[in-house]
Amino acid sequence: MAPYRRKTRLAVASAETIAAAAACLRAGGLVAIPTETVYGLAADATSDMAVAGIYAAKARPAFNPLIAHVLNIETAREHARFGRQAELLARAFWPGPLTLVLPVASTCRVSLLARAGLDTVALRSPSHETARAIIEAAGVPLAAPSANRSGRVSPTTAAHVLADLDGRIDWIVAAGPSLHGLESTIVGCLGAGPTLLRPGAITREAIEAALGAPLASTTPIEATPNAPGRLESHYAPRADLRLDARDAAADEAALDFAGALAPSAAHPRLDLSPSGDLVEAASNLFSHLRALDAADAPVIAVAPIPQRGLGAAINDRLRRAAAPRGK
Ligand code: TXA
Ligand code: MG
Repeated sequence: MAPYRRKTRLAVASAETIAAAAACLRAGGLVAIPTETVYGLAADATSDMAVAGIYAAKARPAFNPLIAHVLNIETAREHARFGRQAELLARAFWPGPLTLVLPVASTCRVSLLARAGLDTVALRSPSHETARAIIEAAGVPLAAPSANRSGRVSPTTAAHVLADLDGRIDWIVAAGPSLHGLESTIVGCLGAGPTLLRPGAITREAIEAALGAPLASTTPIEATPNAPGRLESHYAPRADLRLDARDAAADEAALDFAGALAPSAAHPRLDLSPSGDLVEAASNLFSHLRALDAADAPVIAVAPIPQRGLGAAINDRLRRAAAPRGK
């Protein structure tokens, strides 16, 4: 389904529009919702296909991991493991503009695409009444980046969202301007001490006061590509990737697109989208890569992916996964 052919309905938050928006989300639709930080573009975080729709609507050139929005710490526990410090921070700042990046729980249902293939997950419990009502009625965590086209500023009113995404999403639920007008603060709690990953609406000082300890900051990943213990920012398969392949050798695994690879004994072989649909291909990218990597072939041969639409983001991610790295 082409994202730019949707009819976008704009409605002020009410019991009826919240119920309609939640039903749309459960059916895999795209709904812009108000939060206390900025307006978010929400989709069912448990569905790779719904999440692929977010990237298509925003025309994002890369798959950055997304924040899954939950009601509270109890529902968050299904998806992530809370250590002592994460627990403390959630108790101090949820609901509110704090996002925690945590190790996934074995029961995590947040889709691999929303996590960009990582074994960590970003969770936030928003305080905005309408956002909370929609999460509760949808009954699933909601993946929601800021509701703007890629490269534009984050929207703080429904009118901003409409200007950027009209015709590309299903609903805009309006509830006045966002209170903070600044994204949530992101803190990683992944073993070493808590780390400030993105400054935002809650100050470093407030977080340090709650923790009773200073907060480490990330060194930009580009500056220390192989530093041990750095926050893993990209999913990387163990196997080498051979991109733009026309065929796959018998000892290779094969990642096909629209049946482009010549028939061969390569095994296993998975197709990102037999019909050539790039949104479907995006939704399958990380789960297929993981399944092929698990089969232990030294090399995964990857069919050419067209550069149009979500193909640009798929190719960006494949190139990063194929780049030489310390093993
Ligand atoms: O205030 C906000 O946080 C807004 C509202 C809508 O909730 N959302 C938002 O989402 O700003 P977005 O997608 O624009 O930013 C998400 C940030 C990205 O910088 C991403 O890299 C980071 O969260 N992130 C998500 N999951 C991560 C993970 N597993 N590890 C590291 N960073 C992660
Ligand atoms: Mg953003």
